Amino acid sequence: MPVYRAKAQAGANIAFIKYWGNLDDALRLPLTNSLSMTLDRATTVTEVAFRPDLAADVLIINGVQQGGAALERVSRHLDHLRARAGLTWRARVLSENSFPTGAGIASSAAAFAALTAAAAAALGLDLSPRELSTYARLGSGSAARSVFGGFVEWVAGARHEDSYAYPIAPPSHWTLVDAVAVVSTAHKAMGSTGGHALASTSPFQPARLAHVHTALAKARSAILARDFHALGEVMELDALAMHAVMMTSRPSLLYWQPGTLAVMHAVRSWREAGIPVYFTIDAGPNVHVITLPEHESWVVAQLQAIPDVREVLVNYPGPGVRLLEREEESSPSPNTTL
Ligand code: DP6
Repeated sequence: MPVYRAKAQAGANIAFIKYWGNLDDALRLPLTNSLSMTLDRATTVTEVAFRPDLAADVLIINGVQQGGAALERVSRHLDHLRARAGLTWRARVLSENSFPTGAGIASSAAAFAALTAAAAAALGLDLSPRELSTYARLGSGSAARSVFGGFVEWVAGARHEDSYAYPIAPPSHWTLVDAVAVVSTAHKAMGSTGGHALASTSPFQPARLAHVHTALAKARSAILARDFHALGEVMELDALAMHAVMMTSRPSLLYWQPGTLAVMHAVRSWREAGIPVYFTIDAGPNVHVITLPEHESWVVAQLQAIPDVREVLVNYPGPGVRLLEREEESSPSPNTTL
């Protein structure tokens, strides 16, 4: 029996200029460009095997079989790729994360980048990196960026084909340290997908959108010039602007916990003492503390000494999505219509 199988690995990413709010929720066309760094240690490895004998898709994450919304989201995503390949077979998807679930690292970015690359390879689809990024985006917006390594910008676009990420600079360009201060592993009340749909209800969303173009330009040139303070300033401000939108949405989204604030204040006090360190926060309570390698051990030790900090996970710039295995002999040839 033929099995079309492939395995891929992708890193999570941390956005310096955030994606928050869509022009089109179904297609995940964002309202603005966003900009991120792909992470090297927080990775997902996903194997996809399409088989003619499966009645339904099967999804296993970290050894646990999934159903409900998680399975539906993956099935819907595979449908896009099945339609493109002209194949109807169901798939068995095995996914493993290198980082704890709920650690505040956007697992959907690594998960959907790896899933898209593995499924496309298994189906024999010969997609360009740009096309791969558009397909990854359909699964999770931020996954469009995890297709590429290093420093990455996602171009908003107004149509499916025009909304993709591209690399600004490779991982070797600049060794930034992302020390994630985990203050809570509790399940979030509202995930990103639900949050994006609420962004337009905040009176502050237009203000953030009006400023984001300038913020992107500053962040892009700060990265290219390796100007840590210029990047830190615009990054921290944009995270706060996004959280202002979240807090003033209806219903209001308040992701911060006491530990979140403790870390934010600590980072500011270290900075006042001359340490190059800034923070950014995604849709959760954990804080990504960005610093330079020569300050890593000091910053990590200080973070670990904050009572509400349970764990600190360190990441550096990492590579883009990689194909690990492919069963060549049983895969359809590119663009085969079955
Ligand atoms: C706050 O990409 O997780 O991390 O497209 O609904 O899967 P979906 O949303 P997602 O949103 C990420 C939001 C963010 C900011 C960012 O990573 O840019």
